[in-house]
Amino acid sequence: MKNEQHLILDSKFAQSLTNIIAAELSQNIIICDHHGVIIAAFDKKRISQAHEGAANMLKSGIIREFSISAEDEKVLKNVRRGYDVPIVVDGRCLGVIGVTGDADKVALYARLAARFVEATVESNSRQQRLVEALKDKEELQSILLNKMIEVQEEERKKISRELHDEISQSLTSVIVGLRMLSEQVGDSRERKLILEMRDLVSKTLDNAHRLAVELRPALLDDLGLVAAAQRYIENYSQKYGITADINFSNLSRERFRPEIEITLYRILQETLTNIAKHARATNVKVTLNKTRRKVNFSITDNGVGFMPEALRASPASNNLGIYGMRERVALLAGTFTIQSAGGAGTTITVVIPLKDKRDIPSTPKAQ
Ligand SMILES: Nc1ncnc2c1ncn2[C@@H]1O[C@H](COP(=O)(O)OP(=O)(O)OP(=O)(O)O)[C@@H](O)[C@H]1O
Ligand SMILES: [Mg+2]
Repeated sequence: MKNEQHLILDSKFAQSLTNIIAAELSQNIIICDHHGVIIAAFDKKRISQAHEGAANMLKSGIIREFSISAEDEKVLKNVRRGYDVPIVVDGRCLGVIGVTGDADKVALYARLAARFVEATVESNSRQQRLVEALKDKEELQSILLNKMIEVQEEERKKISRELHDEISQSLTSVIVGLRMLSEQVGDSRERKLILEMRDLVSKTLDNAHRLAVELRPALLDDLGLVAAAQRYIENYSQKYGITADINFSNLSRERFRPEIEITLYRILQETLTNIAKHARATNVKVTLNKTRRKVNFSITDNGVGFMPEALRASPASNNLGIYGMRERVALLAGTFTIQSAGGAGTTITVVIPLKDKRDIPSTPKAQ
């Protein structure tokens, strides 16, 4: 049972306790585990004598305190007078504490020591259970988050495809139809109206395209992160008038695991959006490189910067971007760091380990 795993007598702790009590009483003391094996003793030479009583108790299965009198000592071989007290936690006997000497003098100490050990074991076990419960909860949270991201990405992919394949095609047919219709209409006013309608549909088609790409670019699945990121940065530069230096270290044909590609792509989107929203930057530098064991990704802007340490550890409802990036990177066992200061721009660095066999080339490359 899980609970029982924590009910353990620690031998170091037991030895310290025997030392303290023995020094106080000037008597021998032993602590043995539930098999009768001695895990701590003060006087190593006289172990067997005091130990016999404890071992007998465990063998008999009758778990209760008992004393060995001066008479017993004379009659029984290898047994010395003393007092033995079982250590019982949650109804289980974890061992026995035996103190040699006259029972009326040492019983109290043996009992106190046993209660002290029980309380310590219980408290350790409670603490361990709490730690484990917390770990279980954290694991569950990661699993749920992973699942949530997976479902969200699938959904985006589906909507993006539908936008691209169904809606775009229908709109394209409407545009073609309207153009043909405009050619057949004699009345110039009517023709103008039809052409205006065609332009409106054409704009809607552009928006649908943009939305589809924003949701999930087909390029990312078809050609990979490098191609999709390059396209995204070029469009971004044009849209916001921010120049971009791209350094992807000749990785143009490189493919990573899909979860790495999508994570880095989402980080690129969120970081560039943050730069457009908050940084007042004129230039961004995006670098991607790969070593044998990890992929390094960084985005630097030359904007106003900010104090990353001022961001709360837990997400505020209106500041989810950085929190979300951190969580996604943590799911891949990577590291996410922000370097920024007022007026000095901002750099976001992501390092993701490549632990999957598919990620690591069989012939070692220079690091
Ligand atoms: N490149 C940057 N330059 C300057 N400030 C930044 C930059 N990136 C982030 N910030 C600051 O960090 C804050 C948190 O960013 P975060 O992306 O978490 O939230 P947000 O962009 O405000 O909202 P959203 O939840 O829509 O992403 C921002 O509000 C902004 O003040
Ligand atoms: Mg943001």
